Amino acid sequence: ADTRRESLYVLSGRAAKFFSDTMWESDEGKTIGLSYFRERGFRDDILKKFELGYSPESWDALTQKAISEGFKEEYLTETGLTIKNDKGRMYDRFRARVMFPIHNFTGRVIGFGGRTLKTDKSIPKYVNSPESEIYHKSNVLYGLFFAKKSIKDLDNCYLVEGYADVLSVHQAGIENVVASSGTSLTTEQVRLIGRFTKNITILYDGDAAGIKASLRGLDMILEEGLNVKVVLFPDGHDPDSYVRQIGSNEFKAYIDKNQKDFILFKTSILLKDAAGDPIKKAGVIHDVVESIAKIPDSIKASVFISECSNLLQMEERILITELNKLRLGKA
Ligand code: CTP
Ligand code: MN
Ligand code: MN
Ligand code: MN
Ligand code: MN
Repeated sequence: ADTRRESLYVLSGRAAKFFSDTMWESDEGKTIGLSYFRERGFRDDILKKFELGYSPESWDALTQKAISEGFKEEYLTETGLTIKNDKGRMYDRFRARVMFPIHNFTGRVIGFGGRTLKTDKSIPKYVNSPESEIYHKSNVLYGLFFAKKSIKDLDNCYLVEGYADVLSVHQAGIENVVASSGTSLTTEQVRLIGRFTKNITILYDGDAAGIKASLRGLDMILEEGLNVKVVLFPDGHDPDSYVRQIGSNEFKAYIDKNQKDFILFKTSILLKDAAGDPIKKAGVIHDVVESIAKIPDSIKASVFISECSNLLQMEERILITELNKLRLGKA
């Protein structure tokens, strides 16, 4: 069984090399893939470090190459690099896309994300590897292998949504960054970060979906006993587009200035909708106390209760009563 897993790792690594060779060496790869990344502003050293590549516009270039090198058909389909249709015809999953290899935290390639270069809305922007014996997307954080040292050294981890966000933030000199890559954040992912630091700063996209995901993410992080802050980006921006617009130094300053602890973030988001309505305000208080109730450490929780009390001008005693009800599962 271990030799089987090993073969799947070897095949995935081989595929990453195929995609990067195609990007750096073939005419198609250079004119389409490499130019795309360069036009997006990614430096060559980042493209090399993250082993980015390009899958050619061909039905089965990778499949044929791998078979000719002796890789078993079964491994090609298990990793999802090859798709076999009803008629038994085999073709490449990734065709004419720029390729982001996904590494596990020991640095081995376990899967891929492939981005289309077309703007046509009818095709999916990203195609990803399916679940396999070596790739479980809910247990993986994109970029962790390249970030883990910096996460430990700085005792903080920035959490972004996408592949390009990891690359751009890393390129800006902030290396303690990982992405949940489209899946909503899982407990396993939070625990994985927890092996390197207890402090997470969420940098999700500045749109309604990103805000919703931040609110959900912060509750999960609190439940796992980690500390969480959130940075909100201007509407329509994600970390990648924003750092490109304002530059590395301004971006760092923006993060430092705009990071909010979860209470401040949650109340400011929720109070916007409440707009002075006392019943809605009561709902906000309830929601914020609900988040505090997820914190396993009661001393930490009581510190946040007093912050909440100051911020919402609400007696601590009342908040504590509510907190205790929630802890006992009565509210
Ligand atoms: N994603 C995905 N499938 C999609 C859309 C998104 O798997 N159809 C994942 C990808 O990991 C992507 C992340 O969700 O990086 C965030 O999605 P989105 O914000 O839409 O994409 P960006 O990363 O901003 O991509 P780009 O900047 O290249 O447009
Ligand atoms: Mn988004
Ligand atoms: Mn983006
Ligand atoms: Mn985005
Ligand atoms: Mn409730």
